[in-house]
Amino acid sequence: MRERIVQLTIVDDYEALSRAGADLMADLIEARPDASIILATGETPLGLYRELAERRRRGELDVSRARFFQLDAYMGLGPDDRRSLYGWMKRSVLDPLDVPEANVVRLPGDAPDIQAACRAYDAAVRAAGGIDLAVLGLGPNGHLGFNEPPADPASPTRALDLTEESIVSNARYWGGRDEVPRRALTAGLSVLLAARGTLLVVSGAHKNAILRRTVEGPIIPDVPASYLQGAANVTVLADKAAWGE
Ligand code: GLP
Repeated sequence: MRERIVQLTIVDDYEALSRAGADLMADLIEARPDASIILATGETPLGLYRELAERRRRGELDVSRARFFQLDAYMGLGPDDRRSLYGWMKRSVLDPLDVPEANVVRLPGDAPDIQAACRAYDAAVRAAGGIDLAVLGLGPNGHLGFNEPPADPASPTRALDLTEESIVSNARYWGGRDEVPRRALTAGLSVLLAARGTLLVVSGAHKNAILRRTVEGPIIPDVPASYLQGAANVTVLADKAAWGE
């Protein structure tokens, strides 16, 4: 049986969050150099990724054997589109860590057969022996990846319509809501909740209410992230602003 612990760590500010997140990821990679890791995009993990890149530059970190999985993607965008989440992942973490393309499993939003691409992603997760660590951010509506509410914890990797709340929150990345694609692909909750470890990073007062519902509220489809309460080895890393101190 797996151990079920939600470990809540509250740190002073975003910088401390980035360092603590990098510590956790670096410890995992040291213990298991061939780890399979899902990497979120979004703004919250950017500091953590920068910190990891620094450590790699200083020769303190070797990620050459780790395997990285894309968490979510907009539908219909090729990797060269400025809004491609693969492009974001590449710029913010894969290139700074010098990860070879062969060690990355993409979620291709531009695949001719989306269903087959989603099945291939889930097969790649199985072939890797499951996910060792999912690095996740928290959507303003409680989504993980793009698993929108109401969420089914058994859902596979799939395409879906984005909710209005996600479109509005993603608008800030691309300069307006009209720039945000209406459909997306996401690693399914079944994949995320089966991970052997999860790091959920949450920063800023605007996440306060949804963070409390995630950790303290009932486990309900309307708050997809609340399902983490029943998952294995979950670390919720939040700054004081997000926790509300
Ligand atoms: C976005 C993405 C998620 C991300 C989350 C939080 O919509 N789909 O993968 O983790 O919302 O984003 P941010 O860290 O920018 O607040």
